[in-house]
Amino acid sequence: MTQPAFPPAARTAFAALYPNMPGKLSHALTGHPLLTLDALAALAEALPADSIEYNPGDLPIGIAPEAVPQSELGVVETIRTIARAGSWVALKRIEQHPDYAALLHDALAELRDVVEPRTGAMMQLEGFVFITSPGGVTPFHFDPEHNILLQIMGHKTMTLFPIEDEVLFSAEVHEKYHLGMHHRNLPWQDAFAAKGEAITIHPGEAIHVPVKAPHWVQNGDEASVSLSVTWRSQWSYAEADARAFNHLLREAGFAPASPGPFPAQNRAKAYAYRAVRKLKSVAGG
Ligand SMILES: [Fe+2]
Repeated sequence: MTQPAFPPAARTAFAALYPNMPGKLSHALTGHPLLTLDALAALAEALPADSIEYNPGDLPIGIAPEAVPQSELGVVETIRTIARAGSWVALKRIEQHPDYAALLHDALAELRDVVEPRTGAMMQLEGFVFITSPGGVTPFHFDPEHNILLQIMGHKTMTLFPIEDEVLFSAEVHEKYHLGMHHRNLPWQDAFAAKGEAITIHPGEAIHVPVKAPHWVQNGDEASVSLSVTWRSQWSYAEADARAFNHLLREAGFAPASPGPFPAQNRAKAYAYRAVRKLKSVAGG
């Protein structure tokens, strides 16, 4: 990288937010040669099929099954023509390609001085690219990673909700999610809307999305490209394991307190759950 992904003002803003607060940052990756539609079409060809999700958009009603695009050609064509209605492409774990691994690792290395004193080692660095047609909506959900969403092309509005509000997102849903028993999508009620903070990002702007902060996304009225740079931390893993331990307590008839928000480190319950998990694996259960 010749210039940082996050200029000094972005790092200062990030330091004021991390790890719990959503907010807007700036970035300098707009126009990066790896993030043009042509480069992303080439990335889609290089990634394994299970790292690509896409909807080819408006298909004729009477299309023959063999004519539905399912090959790499289909996704390449979809990326190149993304300005048409109704298409979207998600390229997952872009770090499988060495050029994108370097882009991701260089960008996140710029934040390490802020991250590691607060939440421990940065782990499981993963990058995602979202290429969307005008106007699409991503429904209300949460993600398990620390995330910064960088807008590269077009604009979108993400509405974020408080992490600790158990009316929006119950303790049981947290627990079941960490045990693989609940999908990331959350049930929506119109009464939630007033609790959301809407943040709109254009090229050169980014959003810090805290771990598991519920959110939904409205794309703008032109094609959009966003890059998501994510990581896990010792703290996020401990919170996840404490949630799983609470599920065991709840099954045993207790009503456990939810893990403390940052700066609580939730080590006791996390270690207890890891011990149980180890015993279960020793016992073959
Ligand atoms: Fe998300």
